[in-house]
Amino acid sequence: MVIYGPEGSSKTALLRQAMVLLREHGYEVIYIDALAESLGGAVSATPGIGEALRGLLRSLVGEKIQGLVEAVSVLVREALRRLERPRLAVLLDDAFQAIGLGRVEAYVKQLLNLIEYPGAEYDRLVVMVTSSEGRSRIVLSRHAWSMSLYLWNMDMNGLRELYEQLPGDKPGLGTAWRVSGGNPRVLRILYAMGWSIEDAVAWLVEEKRA
Ligand SMILES: Nc1ncnc2c1ncn2[C@@H]1O[C@H](COP(=O)(O)OP(=O)(O)O)[C@@H](O)[C@H]1O
Ligand SMILES: [Mg+2]
Repeated sequence: MVIYGPEGSSKTALLRQAMVLLREHGYEVIYIDALAESLGGAVSATPGIGEALRGLLRSLVGEKIQGLVEAVSVLVREALRRLERPRLAVLLDDAFQAIGLGRVEAYVKQLLNLIEYPGAEYDRLVVMVTSSEGRSRIVLSRHAWSMSLYLWNMDMNGLRELYEQLPGDKPGLGTAWRVSGGNPRVLRILYAMGWSIEDAVAWLVEEKRA
């Protein structure tokens, strides 16, 4: 499952939440933040898979995050070998930025191979990858190797929850929804700019220029 959406559209939040939910459904989960600054901060894993992969992960110390992202298939095959018919979920956040856009197709095919030819039995295997790279969406649409899902914003209820926590004077929820498009990052920018659309636009233009 490849989840495509612009920056600030809650992809990371979705994967973090998926980790909790999958765990509740009996999954061992490994989450890799491919844009993390250090290898240590890049990986979160449930205890079972953390235990199974400790040695392998340790051997990657000193590697760049890219090495870890590239090694995902090896990690998963090893986990499948060690755990008994597990429910396993692999969540790869912004993986394509780490491996480079030229390798998106090969990488996703490799992930599909993992599901189709795992080398050991599993009960369920879920692989979710997020991307904000428009080009990855185009190259993957040529193939049937993945299921692309789009995440543009939070729904109205999600945005309402966020909106209600913002202190101070604010425009009505309808305006906040219309102007932010439900994108939490845009809502944050508007809040920081005192709800001035002109200031928010000027700030964005300046930021892009830099
Ligand atoms: N459901 C939510 N409720 C509250 N804040 C959220 C929610 N989803 C995302 N956010 C916030 O919005 C911002 C962007 O979300 P993030 O998941 O980092 O987006 P992305 O990974 O797509 O760039 C973050 O500050 C995040 O904490
Ligand atoms: Mg993110």
